Amino acid sequence: MKIAAISDLHVLPDDGDKELLTSIKRRVEEIAPDVFVIAGDISDRIDVLSDSLSQLKVESCSNLYVAGNHDVWFEDDKSTTSLDKYSRSVGEVCSKNGFKHLPDFPHIDGNTAFVGSIGWYDYSFRRFDLEIPLEYYEQKEYNGAVWYDLFKIDWDYSDVEATDLFNRKLEYDLSTLPENINNIVYVSHHLPFRELTVYKDRLPWDFHSAFMGAQSTGKILERDQRVILSVSGHSHIRNMVTIGGITAITVPLGYGRPDQDKLDSFVNDAVAVIDLSKDGTSIPDFVKGDLCADLSYVALRR
Ligand SMILES: [Fe+2]
Ligand SMILES: [Fe+2]
Repeated sequence: MKIAAISDLHVLPDDGDKELLTSIKRRVEEIAPDVFVIAGDISDRIDVLSDSLSQLKVESCSNLYVAGNHDVWFEDDKSTTSLDKYSRSVGEVCSKNGFKHLPDFPHIDGNTAFVGSIGWYDYSFRRFDLEIPLEYYEQKEYNGAVWYDLFKIDWDYSDVEATDLFNRKLEYDLSTLPENINNIVYVSHHLPFRELTVYKDRLPWDFHSAFMGAQSTGKILERDQRVILSVSGHSHIRNMVTIGGITAITVPLGYGRPDQDKLDSFVNDAVAVIDLSKDGTSIPDFVKGDLCADLSYVALRR
């Protein structure tokens, strides 16, 4: 089975990223995968998410989406809440545009199941040696550095409670798969393994790393021998690690945009191609690192 995967497009509104979306779709069509997965963070605006998915949908394969934290930021007019977005409206927008929102129901393809979750963070990725008291993580602010979910996520759960909730849903999904399933691909926005996180020995970067994911989620995956691949977004630095029998990758595109003439090669680097066969998992041309490191930061996203 062939999978094409990408995340964190952070699409500009008002057709500002039309060429980017066209290029991604063209690249995925060229790859001709069985499954195209996007691991979240298209837009904090549901109308932009909807338009983007309609432009990205590839006819010849299954199209799967998992909401990212930006996708569940509430709208400025307060017309919808984070929980409403995650549990209802993102799923509706996905179905309307030919995508399946994996957290709503797993996708089955032969003996392989795709199970999805936004995942969350419980500060277990924090750098303990920095000795920053837990309350700073809970308040999402330290020395002037703010983790922006503070202002844009409006559910009542603490982060530890949210992590636990999504973990329990993941356990439910894993335990209710059909009996013939012997391979599981986990698709999430937040990271299930600390080893995927890139620390930089500087602040506020390493403070923000605490908001990348939760180790408890990875433990659930490690306990299930059927899980062979984990695909995530959120961290804007691409990485690949092996944890037991699981190949785990992050596939972000990121905030930067190249000049027009470099767009297609940028997209080629961004779309990961994964082959699952009985010989194992192979991701031959995977590009690691920050694809946007030398690019101008596109700040206007609303
Ligand atoms: Fe992102
Ligand atoms: Fe994110």
